[in-house]
Amino acid sequence: MDTVLVLDFGSQLAHLIARRVRDLGVYSEILPFNTSKSKIQSINPIGVILSGGPSSVYEEGAPQPLEEFWDYIKEHQTPLLGLCYGHHLIGQHYQGKIVAHDEKEFGKATITLKQQTSIFDSLNSEEIVWMSHGDQVEELPEGFEIFASTDTCPIAAMGNIAKKIFSFQFHAEVNHTVHGETMFRNFLFQICKANPEWKIENWIDDAIKDIQNTVGENHVILGLSGGVDSSVVAALLKKAIGDKVHLIFVNNGVLRKNEVEQVCDWFQNKFKFANFHLADAEEEFLTNLKGVEDPEKKRKIIGHTFIDVFERKAIELEQKFDNIKFLAQGTIYPDRVESQAGSGGKTSSKIKSHHNLALPDDMKLKILEPLKDLYKDEVRELGKQLGLPRELIERHPFPGPGLAVRCIGDITKEKLEILREADSIVIEEIRNAGLYNHVWQAFAVFLPVKSVGVMGDFRTYEYLCGLRIVESIDAMTANFAKIDWEVLEHISTRIINEVKGFNRVVYDISNKPPSTIEFE
Ligand code: XMP
Repeated sequence: MDTVLVLDFGSQLAHLIARRVRDLGVYSEILPFNTSKSKIQSINPIGVILSGGPSSVYEEGAPQPLEEFWDYIKEHQTPLLGLCYGHHLIGQHYQGKIVAHDEKEFGKATITLKQQTSIFDSLNSEEIVWMSHGDQVEELPEGFEIFASTDTCPIAAMGNIAKKIFSFQFHAEVNHTVHGETMFRNFLFQICKANPEWKIENWIDDAIKDIQNTVGENHVILGLSGGVDSSVVAALLKKAIGDKVHLIFVNNGVLRKNEVEQVCDWFQNKFKFANFHLADAEEEFLTNLKGVEDPEKKRKIIGHTFIDVFERKAIELEQKFDNIKFLAQGTIYPDRVESQAGSGGKTSSKIKSHHNLALPDDMKLKILEPLKDLYKDEVRELGKQLGLPRELIERHPFPGPGLAVRCIGDITKEKLEILREADSIVIEEIRNAGLYNHVWQAFAVFLPVKSVGVMGDFRTYEYLCGLRIVESIDAMTANFAKIDWEVLEHISTRIINEVKGFNRVVYDISNKPPSTIEFE
């Protein structure tokens, strides 16, 4: 299949670039900036895109492609597109001059096209683009032409048509570049001559054959969370290997209202998985969490307890079915790329430890990750094609440590019950208002602060319910949702009237960053 490679120089936007390409029907992969020639050769890309990045190309230690990368591009005449930092790299490599500009430029800018060229086909003579840079290409490399300028940036886009190399100072991948998609379309179909073959329908048959060949007559176990990714893996495995898949669903005591019943109903009764195993470990989790207030400790305890419970159940199954040889996981593409070492040479500090299932080595199960190349919305599309209900596919993300990170401070069964009731009201009302699919997440938080209220003729002294509703595209950044006051009021009234334990509701109006989506 035609593949476009994105080399990542530490940009927050590398995924957005790959998404743009995939959305236009062309498969795209992200690899670190220093990927070897042999690896690139094995992918045989029809085009390469160099991402932006926070460094300056002339700085010591700035991420640079290997010399053999440039050799590869020359030998194969592979089309190349550089964006921002990628633009500077191309300028530098082909002997142009890159300089730091006195004023950094952030935000919207208007480019004026200097001549007709295929990369800017079907665009207006002036286009709105998004700039975010300090450096600029000041002198054009030999053999290159200027394709667009702004008032402050004479070489806003340049290229060498014969070599099929193009580069932009601006970020064509972000929505603020109004016709960015057209620019990508031109690069893919006019310059790279790509065939738009990337479709989930085409992917399913190959993935099924792949699973069948890998698994053979063996059995597979899968930890089911009730979320989208593991549910889609379950459906895919069922289609590929039928009843040779064993689902383990752990009740960790910090799930939402009716979640255990609902997941059991879906997978046992509706989808008819013959080997569905519920590991009811509520007491074990709550005992281990007793008196623990520190968010990181809570996360670690839940992660470890989960592995203990899961491992015990898996061993029990292994003893019953001696051909269980695989452990399937719902890892998706961004999970894998985020853990890829070396991207951009910068490491970010650990904010929260998200727990992933890492079983002890002595279990000797081989890992199966059938969704490892898909983005979330591709996983959703796959789920639809496999016949999973919309209600499941469109579920909001729910953190592995569940309500434990929404119940601030130490956790008790009573507090969790109060939170569950309030949370289910939030979801119900957000659905009733038609907002569920328009927001990223909506949930209640248990705040262990008591305040005074009045109910009828009586004074109350109860806990505070936090309400968090956010909009986001990828959870990296998020804004609090500015939803209708009436909806907020209705949620608040219902919680205070119906949930014993809360007598006040507060709406969280913080964005991420600097806040995070979850409270802990
Ligand atoms: P934060 O709170 O870091 O959350 O802004 C970003 C997104 O990740 C979800 N989240 C988790 N997901 N395991 C998960 O699978 C976790 O431990 C975890 N913690 C946070 C969160 O709900 C939001 O969508």
